[in-house]
Amino acid sequence: MKIHILLSLCAFLITVHARVFSLSSSPTTFSVPKSNATKILVLPLKTQEIPSAPSKLPFTHNVTLTVSLAVGTPPQNVTMVLDTGSELSWLQCNTTQTDRPAFNPTRSLTYTPVACSSPTCTIQTQDFSIPASCDDKNLCHAILSYADASSSEGNLAMDNFTIVGSKFPGTTFGCMDSGFSSNADEDSKTTGLMGMNRGSLSFISQMGFKKFSYCISGSDFSGILLFGDSNFTWLLPLNYTPMIQISTPLPYFNRVAYTVQLEGIKVTENLLQLPKSVFEPDHTGAGQTMVDSGTQFTFLLGPAYTALRNEFINQTRGILRVLEDPEFVFQGAFDLCFRVALNATGVPELPPVSLVFRGAQITVSGERLLYRVPGEVRGSDSVHCFTFGNSDLLGIEAYIIGHHHQQNIWMEFDLQNSRIGVAQVRCDVAGQRFGLHF
Ligand SMILES: *[C@@H]1O[C@H](CO)[C@@H](O)[C@H](O)[C@H]1NC(C)=O
Ligand SMILES: *[C@@H]1O[C@H](CO)[C@@H](O)[C@H](O)[C@H]1NC(C)=O
Ligand SMILES: *[C@@H]1O[C@H](CO)[C@@H](O)[C@H](O)[C@H]1NC(C)=O
Ligand SMILES: *[C@@H]1O[C@H](CO)[C@@H](O)[C@H](O)[C@H]1NC(C)=O
Ligand SMILES: *[C@@H]1O[C@H](CO)[C@@H](O)[C@H](O)[C@H]1NC(C)=O
Ligand SMILES: *[C@@H]1O[C@H](CO)[C@@H](O)[C@H](O)[C@H]1NC(C)=O
Ligand SMILES: *[C@@H]1O[C@H](CO)[C@@H](O)[C@H](O)[C@H]1NC(C)=O
Ligand SMILES: *[C@@H]1O[C@H](CO)[C@@H](O)[C@H](O)[C@H]1NC(C)=O
Repeated sequence: MKIHILLSLCAFLITVHARVFSLSSSPTTFSVPKSNATKILVLPLKTQEIPSAPSKLPFTHNVTLTVSLAVGTPPQNVTMVLDTGSELSWLQCNTTQTDRPAFNPTRSLTYTPVACSSPTCTIQTQDFSIPASCDDKNLCHAILSYADASSSEGNLAMDNFTIVGSKFPGTTFGCMDSGFSSNADEDSKTTGLMGMNRGSLSFISQMGFKKFSYCISGSDFSGILLFGDSNFTWLLPLNYTPMIQISTPLPYFNRVAYTVQLEGIKVTENLLQLPKSVFEPDHTGAGQTMVDSGTQFTFLLGPAYTALRNEFINQTRGILRVLEDPEFVFQGAFDLCFRVALNATGVPELPPVSLVFRGAQITVSGERLLYRVPGEVRGSDSVHCFTFGNSDLLGIEAYIIGHHHQQNIWMEFDLQNSRIGVAQVRCDVAGQRFGLHF
């Protein structure tokens, strides 16, 4: 999923405060057993705006979601983009680029490059869009490529990762020499990316946790990331939707993504009149629905997108003015935009949109349905685009639920029971219950 990786890379970072907490009663450092991680690690998150010039590329954004941790011996602090949509974690290791934070492998006593003959290289990289290869030193070489033709490349390596005082020795990651993302501002603030999908080399798979959760605040730039069993029931019951798995590989189906079954879409209480088959993967695997912390907005395949677009226009007629400009398509996928007077006090109240999954539902309230396009002015109006985009316009064969629509929702990824739990919640309140203070 090259495009998917690009979306992931460009879309979302969480910045974690320097201060981190653990729910463990023991104040001392402990080591979480890889195969039996029962401890809970709680990290306060802070989303951060990245000032960026109007971008030449689609998919760029100005909000980032990052995690801070330490790598190596002695530990070096790094900041990584949290991404449920990709597998291999990587760090920028090219220390000659002084404008970017980097991990310096030569200063870590425990840094170990992965040999290309190792099973990590030969077997575990098979889910990558380009399997790893051997370089001239017989080390495992990986190229991660993105839809804008940029790429990141370097060697697979292992080192000790430390999160909230817990050590994860021998964690495999990509130590990248060149490439990185296409967003220089993002690169200047982050050291790399934390891959969290279901692949065997993803960070969560290597840590051995059976569950992780996050909650992204809607009102400020804070959030919470939790590794381990959140035992959330004391806060709010979660509704679960099963993760979809397929036994045979299909060309368009990403088997290591967090795939759920979308069953319908509602505007207010009006269920769009669509056959269920629209939401089901076809014989090529096209049409899966992925939950992705690394993508900002949500993308729907053409037929579902068109039906939602029509219904939303219909229900907002008289409240919103459609921007009648067929030439204007925000980020290449958002072709439903509106004009809002610059002197208006705000966007009017809008009907909520609900994504109905098997067993669970996510309701996106009106204030998260439009995104003001920075710098775009028409006469005395600003331009606001609908935050659901058309996958077809980007050539993506999937539905992608982005983080903008996961705000103020407790998102639990239950790997053991192969399900995703959701609950509408105020994330700042949830964070306080876990002992975090924003
Ligand atoms: C790394 O982070 C820790 C905790 O946030 C901080 O105490 C320490 O000073 C940092 N080290 C460096 C070298 O920045
Ligand atoms: C995990 O820990 C529990 C209790 O400490 C133990 O019963 C179980 O056998 C352990 N599982 C593994 C895979 O080590
Ligand atoms: C980032 O996007 C938000 C909208 O989500 C906007 O209000 C803000 O001005 C943007 N910041 C920059 C620096 O572009
Ligand atoms: C780093 O990991 C190695 C095993 O990969 C372990 O032997 C060593 O003790 C770890 N170092 C620290 C400082 O935790
Ligand atoms: C590190 O980055 C510099 C500057 O972009 C580049 O010239 C150099 O080739 C890179 N090093 C490696 C090993 O790729
Ligand atoms: C979850 O929390 C409740 C209430 O605090 C407690 O009674 C229960 O034992 C906890 N369960 C686990 C598995 O920690
Ligand atoms: C708009 O909604 C009304 C009432 O639900 C319906 O009768 C009408 O056909 C809709 N119009 C369009 C263009 O979808
Ligand atoms: C906004 O400006 C228009 C004229 O450009 C004026 O008619 C309208 O009353 C103003 N609205 C508000 C809320 O100030």
